[in-house]
Amino acid sequence: MTRGEIVAGCLAPHPPHLVYAENPPQNEPTAEGGWEQLRWGYERLRDSLSDIDYDVIVVLSPHWQTYVGTHFLGLPHFKNLSVDPVFPNLFRYNYDLNIDVDLSKQICDKAKDAGLTVKMMNNPDFRIDYGTITTGHMFNPKWDKPMVVISSNRSSAYYSVDVMQEMMMELGKATRDAILDSGKKAVVLASNSLSHRHFTTESEVPEDMSKEHITSHAMHLWDMRMIEYMRTGQSQRIIDEMPEFTEQAIAESDGGGFTWLLSTLDIPTYPAILHGYGTIIGTGNAIVEWPVYKHKEGEK
Ligand SMILES: [Fe+2]
Repeated sequence: MTRGEIVAGCLAPHPPHLVYAENPPQNEPTAEGGWEQLRWGYERLRDSLSDIDYDVIVVLSPHWQTYVGTHFLGLPHFKNLSVDPVFPNLFRYNYDLNIDVDLSKQICDKAKDAGLTVKMMNNPDFRIDYGTITTGHMFNPKWDKPMVVISSNRSSAYYSVDVMQEMMMELGKATRDAILDSGKKAVVLASNSLSHRHFTTESEVPEDMSKEHITSHAMHLWDMRMIEYMRTGQSQRIIDEMPEFTEQAIAESDGGGFTWLLSTLDIPTYPAILHGYGTIIGTGNAIVEWPVYKHKEGEK
């Protein structure tokens, strides 16, 4: 069998406002636009990968929170209504998604072999979290590729960011090994914002962009620091500074997705492409692509 490969990895954040502002038919509320900088960023990401062939999208979402180990969606099809518990006024999305169960199991087995606690999620009524749905929609609005969906083990909350990083480095290696063994071509997505301190009230018109800005200068500085590391191929520094970043910027990297992503990509030393940056209710969000397809030697 031909060897599989990871063709690209992306930071693909999931605030539901992005789907709300896009007005797709699957979402019930309607908007007058908003958060264009980020939505154009997703457009650029989709354009950038439009000529790249791949079979499956692998995503880790911080909003599928599991306290005992890492779980994987384990049935071929899920269809239901996903409602954001914080923003039900913005996000009531009718989803219909297909899972690559074979690859999910392969990653699950590899992770188990590495000593991680894992479980396949086989409840047909399971409600998919809005992080997975928003990232899934913004990355691939046609929903024409199967997905592997990985939960966020809350080891940073239960133990510490350091423990979370060790576990996510292992999970990243297991994910990578399973993809290479599967013979499939995959895109891997970490569905998380950067700085995550947000406003506690919503403006009367949620998409009123005159109200949108980063919550503080300190958050801005942390976001720019992380983006600069990404743009200059300094992934190891991101890993090294992750504990401070996650704690000081209340970053959504606490869910483990960012560390897992860099590990699946083998801690890339080449520059990532920044497709967009913007704030959503004050949180910092970057859409970033690591174009593995341009660095094939990394796959050997
Ligand atoms: Fe989130």
